[in-house]
Amino acid sequence: MEKCRHAAIIMDGNGRWAKKQGKPRTAGHLAGADNVRTIAIAADKLGIEYLTLYAFSTENWKRSADEVNYIMKLPAFFFKKYMQEFIDRGFRMRIIGELDALPAATEQVLREAEESSRSNTGLSLNICMNYGSQREILLAAKAYARDVLENKADLSLDEAGFEKYLMTKDFPPVDLLIRTSGEQRISNYLLWQIAYAELVFVDEAWPDFTPEVLERCLREYEERDRRFGGIRNV
Ligand code: FPP
Repeated sequence: MEKCRHAAIIMDGNGRWAKKQGKPRTAGHLAGADNVRTIAIAADKLGIEYLTLYAFSTENWKRSADEVNYIMKLPAFFFKKYMQEFIDRGFRMRIIGELDALPAATEQVLREAEESSRSNTGLSLNICMNYGSQREILLAAKAYARDVLENKADLSLDEAGFEKYLMTKDFPPVDLLIRTSGEQRISNYLLWQIAYAELVFVDEAWPDFTPEVLERCLREYEERDRRFGGIRNV
């Protein structure tokens, strides 16, 4: 079995987790943000090189203004609390998504996190904010079309060449995609990048997704026989 270099997680169930405890949905997002640190450290220890987390989708703007505003403030809280530790651990932060559509203060905090960890070579901790995969592919197609019009590219483009136009151009393909909280959907996440990923769905809500659950997911990944369209090895 190939090593899991790149794991991606759809961090679902914060709202239900909070409701179960009689707390507002925002309390779930706060616990969820703290869990990002816990799971990033665990992933690093387990040998994962790229961890890509879905924090806010292009569809999440439909939520109440209060909830959206709260999530937009989370990066400031999160990086203030943990950025120094991430730097000390050698983590490199990368933000995926259309950042210029975020509130200016949120965008600034995210860009600073990227900038201050740019030279780190450890775990690549990738946070998707205002990200949607169909939109990412559409923007890539437009950028390619523009390059063709300007004679910077031609029609010989292949899959590897197209990947250079995606927001994830610096990452290897996703090996393992995890979704928490019992839902079994992809929700417009990394559609190109998960072409050959193993999918694992767990019942735990994101704030309850512990390092032990991550290990369980990795064991399940390792037990699967990845064939990439080829023939089973016997
Ligand atoms: C899905 O649960 C979760 C979200 C839309 C927000 C995820 C955000 C975080 C975990 C915070 C991370 C942010 C940073 C910057 C580290 P849900 O609200 O859809 O839960 P529900 O399905 O139970 O309602």
